[in-house]
Amino acid sequence: GIIGYTGDDGSTLDVLLTGLQGLEYRGYDSAGVALADGSLAVHKREGEVAALEEALPSGSVDGAAGLGHTRWSTHGPPSDANAHPHTDEDDQVAVVHNGIIENYQALRDDLAARGHSFESDTDTEVVPHLIEEALEDGADRETAFREAVARLEGSYAVAAVFQGSETVYAARHESPLVLGVGDDGHYLASDVPAFIEYTDRVIYLDDGEFATIAPGGVTVTDETGTVVETSVQTISWDPEDAAKSGYDHYMKKEIHEQPRAIRQCLRGRVDELEGHIALEEVAALEPEGTVQFVACGTSYHAARYGARLLRQRGVQTQSFLASEYTADAVPVSDETLVVGVTQSGETADTMRALREANGAGATTLALTNTVGSSAARECDHVCYIRAGPEIGVAATKTFASQQVALALVAGALTGDASPAFLKALRELPDQVQTILDSSRAREIADAYVDADAYFFIGRGDAAPVALEGALKMKEITYKHAEGFAAGELKHGPLALVSGETPVFAILTEGSKLEKTLGNVKEVEAREAPVVAVTDAPEKVGRYADHVLEVPSSHPQLTPVLANVQLQLVSYWVANRLGRSIDKPRNLAKSVTVE
Ligand code: G6P
Repeated sequence: GIIGYTGDDGSTLDVLLTGLQGLEYRGYDSAGVALADGSLAVHKREGEVAALEEALPSGSVDGAAGLGHTRWSTHGPPSDANAHPHTDEDDQVAVVHNGIIENYQALRDDLAARGHSFESDTDTEVVPHLIEEALEDGADRETAFREAVARLEGSYAVAAVFQGSETVYAARHESPLVLGVGDDGHYLASDVPAFIEYTDRVIYLDDGEFATIAPGGVTVTDETGTVVETSVQTISWDPEDAAKSGYDHYMKKEIHEQPRAIRQCLRGRVDELEGHIALEEVAALEPEGTVQFVACGTSYHAARYGARLLRQRGVQTQSFLASEYTADAVPVSDETLVVGVTQSGETADTMRALREANGAGATTLALTNTVGSSAARECDHVCYIRAGPEIGVAATKTFASQQVALALVAGALTGDASPAFLKALRELPDQVQTILDSSRAREIADAYVDADAYFFIGRGDAAPVALEGALKMKEITYKHAEGFAAGELKHGPLALVSGETPVFAILTEGSKLEKTLGNVKEVEAREAPVVAVTDAPEKVGRYADHVLEVPSSHPQLTPVLANVQLQLVSYWVANRLGRSIDKPRNLAKSVTVE
């Protein structure tokens, strides 16, 4: 993540450190800052932002302009040397970068042949050296920055500060960058939480744009240097929203925010009296062909769920892992609707798939949480899930909101939303609250915290929730977990089941629970403890060792409720194990590389 600041109030270092904390969720194997004034000071460390703070020399000089970065490794392992910012040989310029410079090896070889030496393994380090060469050739700072950027191929949000200058220079290409317009100074960052504490007035940069922020103002230009007219948007998230409000972890807070998130997602979109879903965002869409879903991780599970809801309404659907969508050309026509499900709106794999679909003539719809994100701007249509900021790396409330938004999309696109379905949507927030107030997930977690592995099974609409239950468990507990469509268990995975592998069976009405009970018997015969997640305890209770109950709802919406119980189980197992719940090892909230 990137944060940049310029202002003459002597608070640059504070702003950068606060910004880095706000960005840690984006990637955090190392962090660094550069402070520019008469001199240029760079401090950087492997580890979290706290490690950087400890390493700062006491009485560190502040600067009028500065840059900060949290790194999630792509080229070269986490280390002090590989942390950003990177500098040129005589420390005239410091550079931070998100993304991947695809031609960095060629640039580096060229630079090395001309006598440059490098201190890191990163792709980024070529940039300050390119700038240094341009400066030596007589270019001014801005021209040197532009010339260096023009040499880059790949994806980047890149920013530079110079010794003796109060200006921060930045450019974006396929990696997010947003400017913050403040009263005492100006900001730039890869994401709004980095500076939301200071200003809510933002300008989103587009691909190919350059920006300079100086104490006197903010300027956006295109590749040719022509000034671009920009509009300042006001963000409605307040800093409170992005803080933990008393919970031990952001993840727990966000699990508990789900009733509110779902309510926000539904607001103004369901007209029970008229008996229809009013989703203006998709009103213009009348898909005649296939609807394809592309997504990654948790969003992929939401996509699978959304695809089912449409299929049940007679629409042909396909769901793809975004990274696989681009592996082979997937046939699309101008009748195909491609839905990118992505909470961040920036996931590189998903963006690549959406761009490919766009290029091939499909209509694209972004289902995202992030206003102004790349997905929101590049797709033909956008539907916001309105979950509010999610800081925990493991997606929770954004998943619930994606499920609900997809239920709305399914109903709106097909006009097929029964009164029972609409009523169930309205009741969902309170039902989630009931689960949060009464869940016995913590007891189950205590009972099975020492298990070797956890299995999750479900059929039909419950199958994507089984996959998500297992992913959540893996992400935050670091324990082996597997999710399956229940019928598939006997075709291989059953070999792994023993008395030490608790099996969470999602047995909800409408998900063919009688058949799934047959699979439950298969694992019981192998002495596996069974936890039933169900809205029909009277039917299934006697086949399970434990029951996690969910209120009864419309069968297509019960999976939203079942998932909340599974989130809580994973949370409490991770909590008992003392894991880094909000920032699990090796993971990043938003992965902007393919
Ligand atoms: C990362 C996160 C996952 C997330 C996935 C897709 O891998 O760690 O939690 O599900 O990206 O993110 P998106 O922003 O596209 O929903």
